[in-house]
Amino acid sequence: MKIKLFNRKKNKKGVVDGPAFALSDKSKFAIVESYKSARTNIMFSLSASDKKVFAVTSYSKGEGKSTVSANLAISFSKMEKKVLLIDCDLRRPNVHNIFKLDNSAGLSNVIGKMVGFEDAVNRDVLNNLDIISAGTIPPNPSELMCSSTFVDLIDELSQEYDYIIIDTPPIGVVADALLLKDLIAGFVVVVRERSTTHGDVQKLLDSVKLADSKVLGMITVGCSMSKKRSKKGYYYYQYY
Ligand SMILES: Nc1ncnc2c1ncn2[C@@H]1O[C@H](COP(=O)(O)OP(=O)(O)OP(=O)(O)O)[C@@H](O)[C@H]1O
Ligand SMILES: [Mg+2]
Repeated sequence: MKIKLFNRKKNKKGVVDGPAFALSDKSKFAIVESYKSARTNIMFSLSASDKKVFAVTSYSKGEGKSTVSANLAISFSKMEKKVLLIDCDLRRPNVHNIFKLDNSAGLSNVIGKMVGFEDAVNRDVLNNLDIISAGTIPPNPSELMCSSTFVDLIDELSQEYDYIIIDTPPIGVVADALLLKDLIAGFVVVVRERSTTHGDVQKLLDSVKLADSKVLGMITVGCSMSKKRSKKGYYYYQYY
């Protein structure tokens, strides 16, 4: 089954209005429900693990990782659980744009010991939802993610939060996401309809397996156009 997710509305200048794909009180019932269903499935997948930390990734760029991370974070926070969303895409960060946050200090600055976590985190962006943006784009993202400061930080934060959701760069482009493998319960993989190929998915699954990590589930982000409503795009999410 596919669920209609989103009607993209353009303003007079042809630009897509608003925070585009972020869930809000005005989001359609089907959109909210599709994320709820993904949330429930992820919670079941996580129940076998002590860790309540997971990363969202995909094989190629632009497949919807940041959007899905943001919306899962919103959906998890609605359950009265304390949620932290981390933008771990230190190369092409986007979470701060989705939530319209300042990105002058973020994760990279905390790991680089330029600021403390408290100075970088955005508390209560929504009820129960804290967010740390990526921060200054560093010259050595992979090294930062391998550092003991980062490992200790995630360890410490795992005590404070019920769920930690990590947005990552695409696995087919850089291996950053796989560096998280020991810190997380597994990966939620985003697949984009008519864009992600079988080969991409296979290579991603092979990489995750090789890294001795696991895939918690897959979310399909899709788009189709009906003839009658050719000016409107319809977007779908599906969880496996
Ligand atoms: N469900 C959707 N349907 C259509 N377009 C979408 C959907 N979700 C997000 N987009 C659009 O797709 C583009 C990429 O989304 P997003 O930034 O979430 O992808 P990403 O995988 O995080 O990209 P990157 O690899 O650059 O980090 C954005 O312009 C976003 O507005
Ligand atoms: Mg992104």
